Amino acid sequence: MASSTLICDSQPWKDLKAHVEDIKKTHLRELMSDADRCKSMMVECDGILLDYSRQQATLDTMTKLLSLAETAHLKQKIDWMINGEKINTTENRSVLHIALRAPRNAVVNSDGKNVVPEVWQVLDKIKEFSDRVRSGAWVGATGKPLKDVVSIGIGGSFLGPLFVHTALQTDPEAIECARGRQLRFLANVDPIDIAKNIAGLNPETTLVVVVSKTFTTAETMLNARTLREWISSALGPQAVAKHMVAVSTNLTLVEKFGIDPNNAFAFWDWVGGRYSVCSAVGVLPLSLQYGFSIVEKFLKGASSIDQHFSSAPFEKNLPVLLGLLSVWNVSFLGYPARAILPYSQALEKFAPHIQQVSMESNGKGVSIDGVPLPYESGEIDFGEPGTNGQHSFYQLIHQGRVIPCDFIGVVKSQQPVYLKGEVVNNHDELMSNFFAQPDALAYGKTTQELLNENVPHHLVPHKTFSGNRPSLSILLPSLNAYNIGQLLAIYEHRVAVQGFVWGINSFDQWGVELGKSLASQVRKQLHASRTKGEPVRGFNFSTTTLLSKYLE
Ligand code: F6P
Repeated sequence: MASSTLICDSQPWKDLKAHVEDIKKTHLRELMSDADRCKSMMVECDGILLDYSRQQATLDTMTKLLSLAETAHLKQKIDWMINGEKINTTENRSVLHIALRAPRNAVVNSDGKNVVPEVWQVLDKIKEFSDRVRSGAWVGATGKPLKDVVSIGIGGSFLGPLFVHTALQTDPEAIECARGRQLRFLANVDPIDIAKNIAGLNPETTLVVVVSKTFTTAETMLNARTLREWISSALGPQAVAKHMVAVSTNLTLVEKFGIDPNNAFAFWDWVGGRYSVCSAVGVLPLSLQYGFSIVEKFLKGASSIDQHFSSAPFEKNLPVLLGLLSVWNVSFLGYPARAILPYSQALEKFAPHIQQVSMESNGKGVSIDGVPLPYESGEIDFGEPGTNGQHSFYQLIHQGRVIPCDFIGVVKSQQPVYLKGEVVNNHDELMSNFFAQPDALAYGKTTQELLNENVPHHLVPHKTFSGNRPSLSILLPSLNAYNIGQLLAIYEHRVAVQGFVWGINSFDQWGVELGKSLASQVRKQLHASRTKGEPVRGFNFSTTTLLSKYLE
């Protein structure tokens, strides 16, 4: 299935390399003055407008990128993913998160079997369970309804659900559905995170959801044991059956842990952890908080983008265009980072989630065939909502390093505020910045402009903005559950497109293993030193010194 030739040896790659010189000669000011070019760099899909006219790209660049996509067999690879081929070759797994949000009557095969009925079996079970908990039909060990939920999980078993929860928390319809209920997320093994997340909660009215694909992750399992102890010491060990449920692909370990298998919600090895928010990983805690019908809208939004991704021509295909532009920025223009800048506080956890989706997927050193890459894959993703970021790291983006930016804005605020006497309402104020920043980056401010404004000569270099800094803008109609699902799927597929073009496996994560196994050696040492007073042994000078100081 995979080809052992590297994409950098192909003619389209070489053509793009040569094309960089032309582009670097052209300032974005010039590119932006070409109305036809700008018009063709606007794409709309299901209410979402993508404007990539502020990318350092011409129509010729786009033609060349599309030719690169063809050489990389992008269409074929997308089809392989959607058709359940085992494209995660190092783990021999399909990559089918699209099946998690497929309509009930859809057919998505893995190993020759349609997985959609199983997906809906679990969704129906979640609906039934969450309805019972929310209505008070399911009660805790002392007969009280469970109004609070602590979801324990880390990485993909945490970041996606947290992003969606944070966004839904601001949506009027979702707020209404969540009235009187709390959803908290316990991720870090740091005792401070435990203390913070159980503060003010009563075990009698709390349901704990243990979320772990493998059910072996050290942090999650320790946190799960800690909250099991919190429940059983308050209510007795038999209370665990009423107060703890699980989400996992490993139902044997769930049962071994002491959670009733009837209260376990399955997902499958063809769902990668960072792509699992649409499985029970996200759907269960979010349904408990907001009710299943809100979460179903979120799934529908993601599914609409899946349809678009699989069928729209590449020149109109949002995730494909975004993915190709990222490859252009990273591999050709040499910009290693990307800033994700939502002008919406509701999306404050979007960048941290995409950070995992993107960096764990595409931060690889070898091709899918194991050949060392002579180019860098992946990008450094970070971000903060605007306008907060403007008062923090934007200085560097405007006058320091070039970092391509994704500006994400929302037309209709879910919380409109209009103060009497103000020039514009609060949302217009926020969005004024959303519209202004991309132009500030693209056009900059020249020496002549500053001199015309009588800026003192010695300040001119400090106040000059070179401009020519790329960004793109994504405008969403609003930010309800459906739009949140759309946004998620756009970014998930964008990351896949990048990986497909770079010729890597975006769906494994071997790079996280070494640190885990070294931590287990340290864990053994700490145990031996604390219980038997054994000296620190078998580590290098630096680690030995640090460990000894810690144990003192
Ligand atoms: O350590 C990284 C990782 O394996 C992620 O890929 C995953 O999302 C996270 O840990 C949590 O894993 P699990 O859901 O199996 O507990």
